Amino acid sequence: MNANALMAAFSLLVLLTCAPLRIHSQLERRLVNMTLVRNAPSIGAYCLDGSLPAYHFDRGFGAGERNWLLQFEGGGWCNDIKSCLERAPTRRGSTRYMSRVEVFSGILSNNASLNPDFYNWNRVKLRYCDGASFAGDAVFQNGTSLLYFRGQRIWRAIIEDLLPKGLGQAKKALLSGCSAGGLATFLHCDNFTSYLPKDASVKCLSDAGFFLDGRDIAMNHTMRYFYKSLVTLQGVEKNLNTNCTRAISLYPEQCMFPQYALPYIKTPFFILNSAYDVYQFHHILVPPAADPHGHWYHCKLNPAACNPVQIATLQGFRKYMLQSLRSFFINSTRGGMYINSCFTHCQSETQDTWLAPDSPRVSTKAISEAVGDWYFGRSVSKEIDCPYPCDKTCHNMIGLSQIQVLNNL
Ligand SMILES: *[C@@H]1O[C@H](CO)[C@@H](O)[C@H](O)[C@H]1NC(C)=O
Ligand SMILES: *[C@@H]1O[C@H](CO)[C@@H](O)[C@H](O)[C@H]1NC(C)=O
Ligand SMILES: *[C@@H]1O[C@H](CO)[C@@H](O)[C@H](O)[C@H]1NC(C)=O
Ligand SMILES: *[C@@H]1O[C@H](CO)[C@@H](O)[C@H](O)[C@H]1NC(C)=O
Ligand SMILES: *[C@@H]1O[C@H](CO)[C@@H](O)[C@H](O)[C@H]1NC(C)=O
Ligand SMILES: *[C@@H]1O[C@H](CO)[C@@H](O)[C@H](O)[C@H]1NC(C)=O
Ligand SMILES: *[C@@H]1O[C@H](CO)[C@@H](O)[C@H](O)[C@H]1NC(C)=O
Repeated sequence: MNANALMAAFSLLVLLTCAPLRIHSQLERRLVNMTLVRNAPSIGAYCLDGSLPAYHFDRGFGAGERNWLLQFEGGGWCNDIKSCLERAPTRRGSTRYMSRVEVFSGILSNNASLNPDFYNWNRVKLRYCDGASFAGDAVFQNGTSLLYFRGQRIWRAIIEDLLPKGLGQAKKALLSGCSAGGLATFLHCDNFTSYLPKDASVKCLSDAGFFLDGRDIAMNHTMRYFYKSLVTLQGVEKNLNTNCTRAISLYPEQCMFPQYALPYIKTPFFILNSAYDVYQFHHILVPPAADPHGHWYHCKLNPAACNPVQIATLQGFRKYMLQSLRSFFINSTRGGMYINSCFTHCQSETQDTWLAPDSPRVSTKAISEAVGDWYFGRSVSKEIDCPYPCDKTCHNMIGLSQIQVLNNL
């Protein structure tokens, strides 16, 4: 059985054992309907399969009436015709196959005790159906197959749909997203600011989107080649930050990596990431091709099963992440960060990591507090956790939400 099949089997087991718990906790969660963007075809904005793009919108109230939180949905990428054709007729490539109703939890929750700083804002989840972090602009057509790589146009179509609904009069705004959606916040942060009133307070938050240009355990630049093929296939290059692509004009596709694009982003930014991000661990540091004999198999499922050499390798990855953030950490006056040491991926959308009695903490701060303190300027918010295994607040067992997110990539 390969790793994917095993993960799938394991996730089924977890789903079965946790079913009663899930039904119970959904009672108090917010369900929000899908809105299709009817005007999208007028600017050629389509999902991979040609369906209409969509978002879910929960209107703000009270003191939050004029504040807006936009959250990019995540879900990996497709970087060649084969993988994009496979993706097109699924919920990752078409709104026809997506859930019509989404649960809004964590940073999207409308409950003040679960989401104290953003619960009464206008909250929008942007559905992901282009496969290139909302940044491509191309079409593949050869007579039998047709694929739309229109992420950048989807981004524009959704923004233009929301502007007359109140986004155009926003007082405060936060652009966020997780995983491939976290990457999208790096790519679109300054563009978001340009649509909003000049006196609005606009900031951006990336959750699990700081994908590193790192080598894998076979010394291969797996992720670099992956992004290069993605940028080429989907026509992303012209939508990358032009100051960045000009600065590294020999390898403009490198500006897909947040570590190179970050210095050119002008809007205040918060970087939330685990130093042992499970997606990066499994796909950048130890991709299946780099571990043909499965020496990392048990370590990937549970960090307590890693041997000392593997732990040292993981510490090296953490070190590289902190090094890549050093200049931001030292020099950014308006930026914030929270780099914890939990084996996880995406921590703002799930209630148990965002804010709960036993949610992860760094120097006693929950993630929601750190983000809120930074957004509202209540205190400096640059947290770096001590290395694994020091943090006892982590839930390092492969959890339900984590398995679900990884399976969805
Ligand atoms: C969501 O959609 C369902 C089915 O179309 C409808 O019955 C319900 O009233 C909608 N809810 C809201 C809040 O619009
Ligand atoms: C908000 O969440 C708290 C804690 O889970 C819960 O006790 C309360 O009932 C929720 N309020 C609403 C309006 O759902
Ligand atoms: C179009 O591309 C698909 C996927 O690569 C391929 O299966 C199909 O044969 C191609 N059709 C033509 C007419 O070349
Ligand atoms: C923002 O992006 C849109 C395309 O999505 C583009 O038309 C517009 O010019 C961009 N705005 C700025 C200020 O770059
Ligand atoms: C590039 O940098 C110049 C000078 O700082 C700035 O005026 C311009 O807006 C920047 N362009 C982008 C796309 O950020
Ligand atoms: C290293 O990358 C090359 C090019 O992508 C690939 O052909 C090769 O199989 C990779 N080797 C390993 C051990 O992953
Ligand atoms: C911080 O900024 C200063 C001035 O631009 C620069 O000289 C210094 O190298 C930067 N520090 C780091 C760690 O990047």
